[in-house]
Amino acid sequence: MSKQEKKTTEEVIRVVCPNCNARYNVASDTRDRIPKGTRATAICKKCSGQIVIESNPNSIEIPKGALTMPIKYTVSKTIDVTHDTLRDNRLVAFFDDSPIAEQYKILRTQILCKTGKERLNTLLVTSAGDSEGKSLTAANLAISIAKEVEHTVLLVDADMKKPSLHRLFGIEPAVGLSEYLLGNASLSDLFVNPGIDKLIMLLGRHKATNSAEIIGSPAMKNLIHEIKHRYQDRYIIFDAPPVIGSADTLILSQYVDGVILVAAYDETPKAQIEKALELLEATNLLGTVINKAPVAKNLYN
Ligand SMILES: Nc1ncnc2c1ncn2[C@@H]1O[C@H](COP(=O)(O)OP(=O)(O)O)[C@@H](O)[C@H]1O
Ligand SMILES: [Mg+2]
Repeated sequence: MSKQEKKTTEEVIRVVCPNCNARYNVASDTRDRIPKGTRATAICKKCSGQIVIESNPNSIEIPKGALTMPIKYTVSKTIDVTHDTLRDNRLVAFFDDSPIAEQYKILRTQILCKTGKERLNTLLVTSAGDSEGKSLTAANLAISIAKEVEHTVLLVDADMKKPSLHRLFGIEPAVGLSEYLLGNASLSDLFVNPGIDKLIMLLGRHKATNSAEIIGSPAMKNLIHEIKHRYQDRYIIFDAPPVIGSADTLILSQYVDGVILVAAYDETPKAQIEKALELLEATNLLGTVINKAPVAKNLYN
């Protein structure tokens, strides 16, 4: 080994991008600078994917501000959503101490088991009708998966008739997915990180009257193809409209790997569920989530 090579092995560590296998040399003390027990995320210059760098378990603790690796998302803006907003809006999967978060962990585990082996990474959440908890389920599932070590998640508000994820996270974006698909916004305007590690959202903003045409457009097809294949370790969750009463969800379901049907306990009529199941027959239905089931008092508190 030459003197130069020896110097390199001593002073740098090799970091490999999990998306495109690009290799980077990182100063060997970088791991020491990451606060103990946490990890830093760097952006791959080649594919913009995320590279996770663990802290050195033997390092001494250095304050977070001393970090030299870039940890912010370069393609998305970060809007820190407060814990109060998350709690008030029932985004309970964020909180480890919530018993309901446990339910989302069970859902997450089931989804990961059903999708992991075959690398199915695009999921759609729908229900028979309105207000059955699609958005809340999609958002909590996304948070729960993002908290899982290996996976990043892109949560897409694909309900152009009633975009609501932005409100759930207390964010008021200027433009949303429909504006992008109509050519009135660029993709980089849309990506938002809500201050939750490994979660990126593509939000909606305004209602679109011709949503089926927009969803069925080549622009939507290209977008899904792009986000699906660019980051293969990433789960993409589409918060879709109800499957009954509009073509949007059936069009979207052709592009995704799996569908989750949400039904509201004691609310969704049996006939509606049957109709929804019939409509979704040709899709890969991963399972049904019974939402709004009675829970022990104060479970949300
Ligand atoms: N499990 C639940 N417990 C209590 N309220 C819920 C639950 N799921 C949804 N909600 C409430 O029901 C309303 C509709 O939920 P949402 O997720 O927006 O439904 P959808 O996306 O199906 O229209 C919201 O006000 C939401 O807070
Ligand atoms: Mg919704």
